[in-house]
Amino acid sequence: MSVVINPIGVDFAAEIIGLDIGSPIDDATRDEVVATLDKYAVVVIRGERVSEQAQIDFALNFGPLDAINGVLTTDIKRRVRAELTDISNMDEDHALLDLSDRRRLFNLGNQLWHTDSSFKRVAAMYSMLHAHSVTPERGETQVCDLRAAYDSLDDEMKARIEDIVAVHSIYTSRAILGFEDFTDEERRALPPIRRPLVRVLPGSKRKTLFLASHAGGILGRPTAEARLLIRELMEHAAQPQFVYTHNWQVGDLLVWDNRCTMHRARPFDEAKYERDMRRATVMEADAGDVHIEP
Ligand SMILES: [Fe+2]
Repeated sequence: MSVVINPIGVDFAAEIIGLDIGSPIDDATRDEVVATLDKYAVVVIRGERVSEQAQIDFALNFGPLDAINGVLTTDIKRRVRAELTDISNMDEDHALLDLSDRRRLFNLGNQLWHTDSSFKRVAAMYSMLHAHSVTPERGETQVCDLRAAYDSLDDEMKARIEDIVAVHSIYTSRAILGFEDFTDEERRALPPIRRPLVRVLPGSKRKTLFLASHAGGILGRPTAEARLLIRELMEHAAQPQFVYTHNWQVGDLLVWDNRCTMHRARPFDEAKYERDMRRATVMEADAGDVHIEP
């Protein structure tokens, strides 16, 4: 399969032309996608909407998928295959979620800057989000480049954060929005996880920040001090020069490398429009994670 790489908008996003995610790909094409992700961090592949099985098959070219999707264990009815994460505002009957629905309130956390699954024992490497239906206005996805954000820090800050270990929890990001309605079972299932704040990427060898709204503490630091530093770095990283905004079309596959980006969903009229996307999540083998016993 012969593909063309076109940089788009910012210097860390590229569109891959000529790649059909609904068909098998050879090793050379897979390697080219990986190399493009190493260079750019965000990749757009436009095309037709494909089945869940085809999306899963495409993602499996890049590694094992996260098999445990979903945090709300009390909401057991799934709308999509277990290998995929449901990124939509719809229930299992494909009706729009009520604005007060617990799943909808939980999903609002996706509008905070975050990386996928940094709060899990095995973090996410690539997220592959495929659009089944999109909104006629708003509802974009934004991605920011944490390598460029790191590069632009001054030397004093780089030295200050070099050896910091942050603590990530899904309940930290949800608490920011006042959503703390979790069962003991849900909280036990996802204890806090330690992550280095600065890391070197295996593909490009570039240094990057490892940040998310899930980060709520730093080992050995008072919480208030830790949260101020995390906030300062996140505000720095979310400056316009580091941000790509994706305007969705049906059939798009947007891929980002969670090891060096943060992303967020932008709001839209959820009472009026259906936004239906499914995410395959390729896991990262080694993200420097350490399980903290509760
Ligand atoms: Fe996400």
